[in-house]
Parts: sequence; C-alpha cells; structure tokens
Amino acid sequence: MKTKEFYDQYLITSMVAGFEPVEVASASGCAMRGADGREYLDCFSGIAVTNAGHGHPKVLAAAAKQMQELVHCCTYVYYSPRAGELAKLLAEATPGKLQKSFFSCSGAEAIEGAMRLAKQFTKRKEIVCLTQSFHGRTAATLSVTGNRARKKGSGPYLSGVAFAPAPYCYRCPFKLAHPGCGAACAQYLDDVLRYQTAGDVAAFLAEGLMGEGGILPPPPEYFKITTEIIHKDGGLFIDDEVQSGFGRTGRLFAIEHYGVEPDIMCMAKGIADGWPLSAFIARADVAGAFTPGDHLSTFGGSPVSCAAAIANLGVMRDERLPENAAARGEQIMGRLGKFQQKNRLVGDVRGKGLMIGVELVKDKKTKEPAADEAKRVRALCREKGVLVGLGGTLANVIRIQPPLVITAAQADRAADVVEKAVSEVAG
Ligand SMILES: Cc1ncc(COP(=O)(O)O)c(C=O)c1O
Repeated sequence: MKTKEFYDQYLITSMVAGFEPVEVASASGCAMRGADGREYLDCFSGIAVTNAGHGHPKVLAAAAKQMQELVHCCTYVYYSPRAGELAKLLAEATPGKLQKSFFSCSGAEAIEGAMRLAKQFTKRKEIVCLTQSFHGRTAATLSVTGNRARKKGSGPYLSGVAFAPAPYCYRCPFKLAHPGCGAACAQYLDDVLRYQTAGDVAAFLAEGLMGEGGILPPPPEYFKITTEIIHKDGGLFIDDEVQSGFGRTGRLFAIEHYGVEPDIMCMAKGIADGWPLSAFIARADVAGAFTPGDHLSTFGGSPVSCAAAIANLGVMRDERLPENAAARGEQIMGRLGKFQQKNRLVGDVRGKGLMIGVELVKDKKTKEPAADEAKRVRALCREKGVLVGLGGTLANVIRIQPPLVITAAQADRAADVVEKAVSEVAG
C-alpha cells in the first residue's frame, strides 16, 4: 500500500495507538470507499464531523461557489460576508443570549479562546473542569483534560485548574445510583470550588455530552445544578459542544436537552460537514471583555469553511437531521439495550441520538474493563463492513457516531454487525 509507506516514512504517526487498515479513496453520505474498492458503512464520521453526510451536495456547492469568489482575506482584517452571515445564524441557532462568535480552526483553539474570554470577563484566573473530559491537545486544553493517557509526557500543565467528578453513572465516583444519588456529582462542584480553588474561578468547563471519555450523558438535572453553583460563585459556564453539537444528540446542541443557557459555547467538528472551522459564541456583555489586540486567528472564519457551515445549517434544518438522529439513535440503542441482556460482554449501552457508547466488560459484576475485546470488536465490525470508533478512558467503549443522514435500514445493519461482532468475541 503506497499511502501506508508514505505515512510510515514521512508522517509523524508514533502518537497514534493504531490505524484502521483502510485507505479511504472517496466517501458519500454514510458510505466510505477504500482504495481497494471495498465499501464501508461509516459509523464514526471522521470522529463526529461529517454530520450531514460525506460530501453533502448542498454543502459542496456552497463551498465550490465560495472558492470561485474568495478563498481567503483574513476575516479579522477585512469584512468577510460569509463570516458575518454565519455569525448571525449561530446567534439565532444557539440557546438564550449567546450572540457574538469568534471563528477559529480547531476545537482546541475554540476552547482556548473561550477560557481566555471567561478570564478577561470575570477578571478571575481559575478553571474547574471534569475528570474523564477531553478538550484538545494544546497545552491549555490538555491542562483541562481529565485523562492521563492524553496528558502523559507533556506536563507540567497550567496551574489554577481543578477537577470535579464526571457524571459517569455506570461507574459512579460516589458508588451511588441515579436518581437516589441526588445528582451527587453535580452537587460536588460546590465542594471543588470551596476546597480545591482559591475562590478565583472564571469558569466551569464541561462537554454537553462527554465524548472521548466514553459517551457519558449526564443525568437530567446535572447542568441546572452545576450552572447554578458556578453562577453563585461568580464564574461562567462554558459548554463544550465540539463533539456533541450540530444535531448529533438529537437536538442541535446537547445542552438543549438540559434547559440551561451557557455563557459561552464552543463548537467545531460538525459545524461545516468536514471543512475546518471552529467557533465560540458568547453573550454580548461577555464577548465585550476582549479589547483590541487580544485575540485573532489568521485562518479563523475562512470564507470557504463559513460558506460550507451556512449550507450545513440549512441542511440540518431542511432535512431535519437532529430529528433523524433522535429516531435512529432510539432504534440502535433499543436494539443494543435488548442485546445487552443476553450478552456477557455488554455492561452498558448509553447515549443520546447518534452519540452512542457500548461499554464492554469482562464481568458484569466487577465491571472489569474489556479493552482488548473492544479492540477486537472494532476490527471485526470493520471486516464485516461497518466502521465504528473506540474510546473511553478505559479504552473499552465502542462508539457508534454515524452521519446523521443514516437510514433506518443502515441503522439496523450497524446494530446487526455490532451484535454479531460482540457475540463472536464473547464466544
Ligand atoms: C469535546 C471535545 N472538545 C475539544 C476537542 C478538540 O477538538 P480538535 O481536535 O478539533 O482540536 C475534541 C476533539 O475530539 C472534543 O471531542
């Protein structure tokens, strides 16, 4: 395989746990085609990116038109029409008073900018985030990432960061069960603020639905409680929707399931169906805390990416993709939930919409993580023509995150293949 040889010789790949042995030649909708002609049902979307499906014709057309007109001018030196239009659309599409956007290129860049803005608005310096979280691979975003496997080899990290326990119900840090727990993980934010910080907390940063940590949907009251606690303390709530945004969970943004309004929201991945773009959006008063010279990104708000993002939002609305995500998610989780009862490896099936995690354990009583088994399940799924992801801080969670255009028949096929692969590995 020529591409593999080029990778081996000329790309830095030493940091990757393992490549999927697929050379991707083309993709459309939910289908990815290998250079060998093999077609796969894509259930990972390039890590939750191609939400409107690979190469959606309306997104392609908008990007192609924009390429003919203007590729780059620097959106922060000259007025760029698509950036203005997209910012207006995002203000309309996001909850509450979120109004002013800053465009950048990666999820990590959006999180960095959001934390900086929160610090400047509150004139405070500390951040509280969550164990099991993932917010990116830059120094600051690794500092607020609660997973040592991602952080190893690069410390020391930023000071002024404290971690609250993740809402990981299957492995509750308090060994309690919802709803009897009274959402102890959410209430514990108060203790973290009191005993782990200097009372100088600018923001509580959390994913709307934790992705890399193993697909961990918080209990229904979680964000109401945590937002109240952080606001009472004088800090802001930064909602990281990088992975959970743009229809993935059955609503445009995961936080909409929880009925709270973030002060700042971060977006990337699914924002432009594959074009590189990220953003954070803030209340107007919060956004006003930046002063001239404070922040910029040369490629941020690329006209082509913004044109793609505008078309992508139109597709989400016209094709009712969040609704399809909700329906197909129920279909897949309904099936896998029944399968869980009869299979010894499946410890938990959880998620919202098409952000689904299947946690594999060697023993349902001890919950010993089955990481090798999960790896084998992913390989078997691939052999059977379905691409799924792998994740979780214990590396034992099968992630099903297909493009949101997946049909009922394709969703059944995905569930069939996952069930068969898990059954084969369970023996
Ligand atoms: C919730 C969340 N935040 C931030 C990031 C970082 O995004 P990027 O890889 O685009 O920097 C990720 C990436 O997986 C993510 O899942």
